[in-house]
Amino acid sequence: MSTLTIAFFGDVVGDPGRRAFTHAARALRAERRADLIVVNGENAKHGSGLSADNFRALRDAGADAVTLGDHCFREKQAIPLLDDPREPVSRPANLAASAPGKRTARVPPATPGAPALHIVTVLGRLQMPMPADDPFAAIDREIAAIADPHAVALVEIHAELTSEKQAVAWHCARKWGGVVVGVVGTHTHVQTADPRILEGRVAAITDAGMCGPHRSILGRRVDDVLRWMTTQAPTVLDIADGDERASGVIIRVDPGQPGARSARAIGIEPFSIASAT
Ligand SMILES: [Fe+2]
Repeated sequence: MSTLTIAFFGDVVGDPGRRAFTHAARALRAERRADLIVVNGENAKHGSGLSADNFRALRDAGADAVTLGDHCFREKQAIPLLDDPREPVSRPANLAASAPGKRTARVPPATPGAPALHIVTVLGRLQMPMPADDPFAAIDREIAAIADPHAVALVEIHAELTSEKQAVAWHCARKWGGVVVGVVGTHTHVQTADPRILEGRVAAITDAGMCGPHRSILGRRVDDVLRWMTTQAPTVLDIADGDERASGVIIRVDPGQPGARSARAIGIEPFSIASAT
């Protein structure tokens, strides 16, 4: 079975983020560096939320699936999209049982005989603004529910704390090796220098980084953030511009024997691709 390559892009921030993602996704496809592309789109609408138009734009640019985080319900008009089983966009799996939206996204096989990819996003519970249920239990529930014995899974932990993100990665490596092939962190927007393969089978990085303006503070204008943090006065934090880059990781996967649940990651390579402008 040939290797499967999955490119995961961190949080897309506003217009600059969508431009950077579009440029980088097309480049990876043209260079045949990615069979499947997954992107966190929760900041695509001017820094907060994902509109239906944003979703279509990310799909048109090459995203096979789009994930969300704590801003998942910011755009009310996009909620039907989250409920539609045909659309590869999911909200975090560890919200209230009656919350709208799909708990997983599924991407069909990239080529005949290749595995389908299931994506499960969970929110961290520590220092996060949106209350969430146990992320470990939610992962266990969603991964156990994958009926296809040939499928592989990618887990995204959208969280503030590095400790919680690494704990989720180790939990998956210990418990779900053979099915989960990667655990990627998002939400903090700064790519971490710790890509590694845990237990010889699960690729992990604490944060994939962001797609957006890197001459900024997490994608927001430096002047605005400094004014807010130095005066504590309410301040609109506008989206920055300049130094547009798309950050993420490419995970190479050996799908293993069909049906044997023996998939494993064999490589993880961070990237940060500057736009051509
Ligand atoms: Fe977030």
